[in-house]
Amino acid sequence: MVSRVIPVDPFDLVIFGGTGDLAQRKIVPALFRRYCAGQWPHNSKIIGAARGELSVEGFRNIVADSLHQHAPMRARDADAMAGFLQRVDYVPLDALSDEGWAQLAGKLSDDRIRAFYFSVGPSLFGPLAEQIRAHDLALPQTRVVVEKPFGHDLASARALNATLAAHFDEGQIYRIDHYLGKETVQNLMAVRFGNMLFEPLWNSQYVDHIQITVAETVGIDGREEYYERAGAMRDMMQNHLMQLLCLIAMEPPAKFDPDAVRDEKLKVIRALDPVEPHHIVRGQFAGEGESRGYREVVGNPRSTTESYVALRTHISNWRWAGTPFYLRTGKHLVARSSVINVMFKDAPHSIFGEEAGRHANVLSIRLQPNEGITLKVTIKEPGQGGMRLVDVPLDMSFAKALGPENQDPPDAYERLVMDVIRGNQTLFMRGDEVEAAWAWTDPIIAGWQARGDVPKPYDTGSTGPGDAELLMKRDGRRWQGINP
Ligand code: BG6
Repeated sequence: MVSRVIPVDPFDLVIFGGTGDLAQRKIVPALFRRYCAGQWPHNSKIIGAARGELSVEGFRNIVADSLHQHAPMRARDADAMAGFLQRVDYVPLDALSDEGWAQLAGKLSDDRIRAFYFSVGPSLFGPLAEQIRAHDLALPQTRVVVEKPFGHDLASARALNATLAAHFDEGQIYRIDHYLGKETVQNLMAVRFGNMLFEPLWNSQYVDHIQITVAETVGIDGREEYYERAGAMRDMMQNHLMQLLCLIAMEPPAKFDPDAVRDEKLKVIRALDPVEPHHIVRGQFAGEGESRGYREVVGNPRSTTESYVALRTHISNWRWAGTPFYLRTGKHLVARSSVINVMFKDAPHSIFGEEAGRHANVLSIRLQPNEGITLKVTIKEPGQGGMRLVDVPLDMSFAKALGPENQDPPDAYERLVMDVIRGNQTLFMRGDEVEAAWAWTDPIIAGWQARGDVPKPYDTGSTGPGDAELLMKRDGRRWQGINP
């Protein structure tokens, strides 16, 4: 099955912070891959903008280097590289002065989609938005893209939203949460709302509980300063895990349309119960010798920032009353594995007697790696006398099921940047969603601060602190394994 590539309309994409890490590691390689896939009209271009006094040639060299590093297979195609680089331009520009803006204006065409990617710290969102207005660069077909962290708490998120709203309509603002661009995250919606099979069972009557795990093996190297202020709660839970929770728990939207989907997600966040202090566990990776612990990495022997968090929450609505949701995420864990496990209830009565044991279905949605879905079902153990039961997986790996040409689906940034050009906001967060997520997160963090909470140490390469197991055990449950 070969996926179709639908070309987008001609565009000019300006990347502020164009020489920065995110632009070079993620955004530009994503644009290059879409260019190679034939999704770009030929009269489109990318304009890097940053403070550095670089020539266009100098910027193209930076881009070429990062493509060799981050899109190595495709970068070997010399024709594709040359064609792409020809469409890359550069303007030295300062968000805080008028310098460079007239030059930028001269490079933009009025008859194309115009997108401004703010790949810079949030403190520059306001100045950039003002300059775009002051230099008359915003057209009705203008879009602005902003990255997380979208605020540090509710107050700062509100301030950022107000800043952007002073210059752009909500329909022009694309707040990225790259988890929404992941292929299997979108598949979550396809599985739920494209099949008759699951939806009738998708409620507290049949679902015992839901586990969402985003385990990482990477640490925080190179981002110490940001991470020390953020921690796992702000860095991952408030956004990526929250978005997964929304997609798994929301009501079916009437159509797959940006506001219909985002309205439903917002209702989930607003229905979340506050998290009780004994329903949350914070951890911090410890280390010895070569594998340095968190405090050594950040150079703060008294740091109380968490690199791991596990919690239990509830959604107070008709569908989910009584079904706990357990969420956990952490750095330097045993494996890289993002998975959602929908744990169904036991059958109400076992006709096979006690010795057959209790068995429950589990639907596992693997986001990464090895994207796919597994349904654990119970069958008779072959060859045994009597009725002994055993659990087997009905396993669907998307790569296997859809053929080798789908082994390498577009990465999240490819999909999201093209959605910006298409003007499709479905996979972007709306301002009210972000604020609601902070409104739920803030009291949790304030509680830790008020209590002087210190995260529990856990070994690098483990599954996290022991207390996270207890969180489950107290409820008579246990986490599914973290398997790569
Ligand atoms: C980012 C976080 O948003 O997501 C990082 O800031 C984290 O700390 C990353 O490592 C995880 O993304 P992915 O796509 O590798 O799962």
